[in-house]
Amino acid sequence: MSVSPRHRDLAQRYGTPLYVYDLTRVRAARRDLFGFLPEGVEVYYAFKANPHPDLVRALRTGDGPACKAEISSTGELATALRAGYRGADILYTGPGKTAGELDEAMRGGVGLFSAESLGDLEHIGRAALAHGTTAQCLLRINSVTASAASGVRMTGKPTQFGIDSETVRESAAALTSVPGTSVAGLHLFSQSNARDEESLLAEFRHTLETAARIQDELGVDLRVLDIGGGFSVPYGRTGERAMYPKLRGELAAALDVFFPGWRQGLPRIAVESGRYLVGDSGHLLTSVSNLKTGRGHTFAVLDAGINVFGGMSGLGRLLPVSVEIPVDQDSRQVTLAGPLCTPGDVLGRDVTVPADLAPGDLLAIPNTGAYGPTASLLMFLGRPSPVEVVVDGETTVSATRIERTRVAHDAEHTHG
Ligand SMILES: Cc1ncc(COP(=O)(O)O)c(C=O)c1O
Repeated sequence: MSVSPRHRDLAQRYGTPLYVYDLTRVRAARRDLFGFLPEGVEVYYAFKANPHPDLVRALRTGDGPACKAEISSTGELATALRAGYRGADILYTGPGKTAGELDEAMRGGVGLFSAESLGDLEHIGRAALAHGTTAQCLLRINSVTASAASGVRMTGKPTQFGIDSETVRESAAALTSVPGTSVAGLHLFSQSNARDEESLLAEFRHTLETAARIQDELGVDLRVLDIGGGFSVPYGRTGERAMYPKLRGELAAALDVFFPGWRQGLPRIAVESGRYLVGDSGHLLTSVSNLKTGRGHTFAVLDAGINVFGGMSGLGRLLPVSVEIPVDQDSRQVTLAGPLCTPGDVLGRDVTVPADLAPGDLLAIPNTGAYGPTASLLMFLGRPSPVEVVVDGETTVSATRIERTRVAHDAEHTHG
């Protein structure tokens, strides 16, 4: 596959670098994911993957079960509420919730909070009391053990995330008696981008076993159990979204063992997904600004770098990207560099490109619907943000650009 005529037209019209997101693919991913899960399992969309208003709306509206919202900031809260998510359908997560943002979340009617530690729980409780309410909380657990190898492991080591699983028993009394809070359930997010269906399943089984044990240790009946995610899609590379044909049956069987009341909603079971729902909806279109050869290497310098795609590369998650080229085309390998004045601005090494690649050529990087502009170094070196076009099949829905301007700040806050 090479750059499609539609993408060429859009690039001509809006210029590059340009993101194109197709809502038909977002809806397909949502349909597939709900189809792979046992009936009744809820899906929280992780806004961090892509908070574009048209995408988050598409995940909530239309046919089939709607996604709920997993958010970690007041910016994401505002986006969720504007897109029509009810407060009751929002889960607020994150290790550093401030008093100010908790206050805003309470005012927005957020239904569930993930508490990352006893201190975090106390902060949530204080905010809830100030609002005359009781916050429904999920205790986030950092499990000391794990089952599967995964793309990005989030637990088992010391991190700012979650309560160490081995300490729950001794702190159960404290965790379950924080004024202004009610422990509604548990939140375990142990991996991102699972290697394959077996790893995903093994990790979910392990999570259920851990959750059942912690339920006993806490001495509370869980009303909500968020078992995390790990649903996978290539990131900036050619390839297909993962399929999970065994998940529905095997997860239901594991739930029957560990939480026999789940079919009656005790507890409600939820998963979280970011990249899977939006990843393959996106293409990044970028133009070659220059070709440079030095010491035996050819660099295709693009108008898109880590300012546009790949702020996450610092986390070791990105390289290498690939570009779409026809299978029968003569090709060669180059380093894809961005336009920034830093040697770190590399999108991929030894990337296969057309043999006759020349300045002015258009390239399409597939599977860039997740962790794109808002996960990148948008401000670095002051280049304009890319235009983001949303299409629904043949229809263009919107074309927008994230604007950043320096505004005068309230002096009291600056110096206070
Ligand atoms: C708590 C939590 N939920 C959901 C996600 C989304 O992960 P993914 O985009 O891999 O589905 C993350 C990613 O780091 C996360 O930390």
